[in-house]
Amino acid sequence: MPGDLGCYNIADLREGARRRLPKGVWEYLERGVEDETGMARNRHALDALTFVPRVLRRVDAVDTTSPIFGQPSALPMAIAPTGAAGIMWHKGDVHLARAAAQAGVPFTISSASTMDVEDIAAVGGRLWFQLYLREDRQLSYDVVARAHGVGCEALFVTLDLPVQPNREYLHHNGFGMPFGLNRKNMADLMLHPRWLAGVIGRYMLEGGIPAQANLPAHLRHSIARGAKPGALFKQDDLDWEGVAVLRDKWPGKFVLKGILHPDDALRALAMGADGIVVSNHGARSLDGSIASIDALPAIARAVGGKMTILLDSGIRRGSDVVKAKALGADAVMVGRAPLYGLAAAGEAGVTRSIDLLHAETRRVMAMLGLRNMDEITPALLA
Ligand code: FNR
Repeated sequence: MPGDLGCYNIADLREGARRRLPKGVWEYLERGVEDETGMARNRHALDALTFVPRVLRRVDAVDTTSPIFGQPSALPMAIAPTGAAGIMWHKGDVHLARAAAQAGVPFTISSASTMDVEDIAAVGGRLWFQLYLREDRQLSYDVVARAHGVGCEALFVTLDLPVQPNREYLHHNGFGMPFGLNRKNMADLMLHPRWLAGVIGRYMLEGGIPAQANLPAHLRHSIARGAKPGALFKQDDLDWEGVAVLRDKWPGKFVLKGILHPDDALRALAMGADGIVVSNHGARSLDGSIASIDALPAIARAVGGKMTILLDSGIRRGSDVVKAKALGADAVMVGRAPLYGLAAAGEAGVTRSIDLLHAETRRVMAMLGLRNMDEITPALLA
């Protein structure tokens, strides 16, 4: 079938991405931190949940639409922010955003993207903006104002990277920051001419390797030179008061990403957040962190129904979407799944990843005797 790309699940897209990307870029996309127990824990926790299906319930018209922040979404899913999309595919953020818009799901622009928020937002669709704070907080406030100016509906502040994560493989692969050609990465890049020509070659033709985005011109530096003073991401001194400043500045929906403790969820509710993302950052921050899906029930008991609960980390199947809904999430976010599609086949790959998750969600609902999202309850799970 045209458009299926020979990929019939997210794992097939993952394999396409692995083949196309240089090892250093692939491992940046795929891997976790330290001993990498967290990624398997996310998956095991999802796999350990089982369904108790119901039969004979006329499932010939399953409806996957679901409101997120009061607006309908084609399914309870949004694309998570991923900063490195521009090295997976030329102008990758634009392709992620367009595929999401066409599929009718929200897309989250990362503040760590290599593209300015205006250039991504020009694609249209339902857009959210994710923030990491810079050392000079005024630079962050400026980009928050720009995100509002281009129509982003929600601001997501990511809280689970107070310090740099320990990604040892980046050093082994010669992909530390600032990035430069070296003995370790040279052969790797040369052995991937399709990626080299299609991504780096196209940037070079347009004037060079992308710089850090969303900064005033005098602070922009190529990724080969690292951040200038003040422009570094720095959140080790961030606290609830610092986040309250952002809440006051942002007129739209305000979301805290990277919450795993019910008390932090309650604190988010008390400070006026509209939502949280129950997330361990795809096991890319703290390796020993609880699986997001295991943290969800207690958080849903604490704040469910009073604020929007999103969940991410390990979502690879439509059944995972249904499990997260059953345990109290309003919707899931997906990080790697669409990135696999992007790296494997550009925009068509992103579309394929969303279509697969959509079709799987619909099929699982039918198998369970569910006709719409309101019928998903904890009683589905054994
Ligand atoms: C991320 N993630 C992330 N999160 C964030 O808040 N800002 C960012 O810039 C990034 N960048 C980023 C890059 C890459 C390559 C990955 C894989 C992830 C985390 C992301 O938003 C999300 O929390 C996880 O990806 C969810 O887990 P899964 O779906 O990848 O298993």
